[in-house]
Amino acid sequence: MKTLLILGLLLLSVTVQGKVYERCELAKTLKRLGMDGFKGVSLATWVCVAKWESSYNTRATHYNPNDKSTDYGILQINSHYWCNDGKTPGAVNTCNVSCKDLMHKDISKSVACAKKVVSEQGIGAWVAWRNHCRNKDLAHYTHGCGV
Ligand SMILES: *[C@@H]1O[C@H](CO)[C@@H](O)[C@H](O)[C@H]1NC(C)=O
Repeated sequence: MKTLLILGLLLLSVTVQGKVYERCELAKTLKRLGMDGFKGVSLATWVCVAKWESSYNTRATHYNPNDKSTDYGILQINSHYWCNDGKTPGAVNTCNVSCKDLMHKDISKSVACAKKVVSEQGIGAWVAWRNHCRNKDLAHYTHGCGV
C-alpha cells in the first residue's frame, strides 16, 4: 500500500512537472530568458507580477466564469486569447501553445508567451500589476539576488 502511494506520488511529479520558484531563482531565470527591460518592463516588475499572479507557482490556475476561460502558470496566461486548453469557447491561441505547457517547471514557454502579451497589450494586461505593482517601490523583489 505504502509502495503504491509512493509510486503514485512519483508518477504525479513526473506527469505534472510543476514547481514553486524561490524569489531570486525566478529573478535569475527571468533575466536569463531576456525579461529584464523587455518592452521597458523591469525585472523587479516581472517578479512582482509573478508573485501576485501565482505566488511563484508554475501550476497555479484560475478559472474565469464570465468567459469560461482559465489563467495558467507563473504569469497566469489566459486561455481565451493566448494558449489552448481545448475547453475555452471562442479561444484563439495567439501564442500557439498548449496551456498545460505553461504550467511546466521550465518557464520558457510561459515567458515567450508573456513577451507576446506585453508586446500587444502592455504590462496593464496583468491585473496583479495594476493592483500590486504599479506605482510601487519594487526594489525588494530583486534585492539580494545579484541580478
Ligand atoms: C504551432 O505549433 C506547432 C507545434 O509546435 C507547429 O508545428 C506549428 O508550425 C505552429 N504554428 C504556427 C502558426 O506557428
